[in-house]
Amino acid sequence: FWSTVPQGPPDPILGVTDAFKKDKAPNKVNLGVGAYRDENGKPYVLESVLKAEDILHQKKLDKEYLPITGEAEFVKLASELAYGKNSKPIQEGRLAVAQSVSGTGALRIASGFLSAHYNGPKTVYLPDPTWGNHVPIFENVGIKVQRYRYFDKKTVGLDFIGMKEDIKLIAFALQILLHACAQNPTGIDPTQEQWKELSELLQAKKHLALFDMAYQGFASGDIIRDAYAPRYFVEQGHQIILCQSFAKNLGLYAERAGTFSMVVSSAEEKERVLSQVKRIIRPLYSSPPIHGAQLVATILGSPELYEQWLGEVKKMADRIIDMREKLYNLLVELKTPGEWGHIKSQIGMFSFTGISAEQVQALADHAHVYMTKDGRISMAGLNEHNIQYFAESLSKAVKG
Ligand code: LMR
Repeated sequence: FWSTVPQGPPDPILGVTDAFKKDKAPNKVNLGVGAYRDENGKPYVLESVLKAEDILHQKKLDKEYLPITGEAEFVKLASELAYGKNSKPIQEGRLAVAQSVSGTGALRIASGFLSAHYNGPKTVYLPDPTWGNHVPIFENVGIKVQRYRYFDKKTVGLDFIGMKEDIKLIAFALQILLHACAQNPTGIDPTQEQWKELSELLQAKKHLALFDMAYQGFASGDIIRDAYAPRYFVEQGHQIILCQSFAKNLGLYAERAGTFSMVVSSAEEKERVLSQVKRIIRPLYSSPPIHGAQLVATILGSPELYEQWLGEVKKMADRIIDMREKLYNLLVELKTPGEWGHIKSQIGMFSFTGISAEQVQALADHAHVYMTKDGRISMAGLNEHNIQYFAESLSKAVKG
């Protein structure tokens, strides 16, 4: 049956972990996948999550199927976290929300819904560069993928002028994907002033803003600040789509907890839209998994655990910020050619180093340091034990 099936390429991000696992060197470093590591390089389960696990265990809950749109309490609390309790669409009953299989699942619901129901051109504009998985998520449902300028190689910063030009030039009523905060892979976000301009620009062109929010709290350590862009857009009257993930900010990577939400114009429209969202979800996976959603609902629903979680998310963000400072200082000390200020100014899980694909390869081959081909490093993979080694290896690779 399958003799003609060709070998597929390794995943550009998860494939890095496979290569890292095969390497037997004791000093190897994995800066590929975006998953938080503690100061000893170990995966980290949050204390608030462990407490929520205990609470759930004692409750001896059943494992019945969830409704297609998920666990109601989770959906409510997760939406309030993203949009704010006083958000108008929530208060007016015109936020259509479904639990999703984390951020990827939310994006897949979005692409399915847009492919079936969007009246404008079936084209999505993604930032250049963006998270690799965005492309097949849209292409697989027949949505055309285009790019808008985002990253300026020369300044290793945001190409805001290019971004605006591209968004201005493209036709009306397209779908524009925006990273709510901690842009993946660059770690470069628009400022609040720039978000305001973007909001106006998108409104003038009647574009649909589609936010991917995978790092709320993780970027700055402040969940309100990190939700600035989608909340501002909603205040300005945009009917946004939002894809929310709890993988990073609650460390629930494998639990696959997230939401897909759409701001719509009325409570009546919400019912119609949700009836179609259900028709997307049901043939994909029937209904979402229960455990991660219960963990999130337990934490967000308990003032004490919520406070503890806020402290923990800040601690993770602060450790990463500390690593940025240290890496920058080391690169300067080592007289590494080039300007490295971007390591400190970028935010969130990743830093886009600006090094070439050849230098990335040289780091893997000679120093057992792994990262994605585009030169992105997961800052969370650095710690006091490996940062000196990494800085020296990077410096050597840049010097050639
Ligand atoms: C990443 O970009 O490394 C993360 O979002 C994990 C993933 O699924 O790619």
